[in-house]
Amino acid sequence: MPDFGDPERGRAVIARYECGACHRIPGITGARGKVGPPLAGFARRAMIAGTLPNRPEALLAWLRDPPAQVKGTAMPALGLSEQEAGDAAAYLYTLR
Ligand code: HEC
Repeated sequence: MPDFGDPERGRAVIARYECGACHRIPGITGARGKVGPPLAGFARRAMIAGTLPNRPEALLAWLRDPPAQVKGTAMPALGLSEQEAGDAAAYLYTLR
């Protein structure tokens, strides 16, 4: 569990940025999107987008600017601040 973010704030960040338009996310109302992979069990996944190691620093960078991390990825940069990315990451790491 990373200590750089707050999972409860992260839940609000995820709702505000409408991540659920593209992902199924446990605990987020209405998050039923199918554009991206479901995020249930994300904390136990070895890789992010099949290429980055699933570690806090890599997840933060991914959440802030996916195309900068993985060329050609279909997940757009949504404009999360560093704090917001840390909080969202903390929430994602509660999904075991
Ligand atoms: C426009 C659709 C879209 C939105 C909005 C979106 N994503 Fe994604 N996301 C994707 C796609 C597509 C992928 C798969 C990327 C790939 O494999 O290249 C992805 C991948 C991911 C992954 C990696 C999952 C894995 O198992 O590899 C995480 C984590 C993630 N998104 C979190 C978020 C969060 C948090 C938000 C909101 C801040 C968000 N996404 C918003 C489309 C989206």
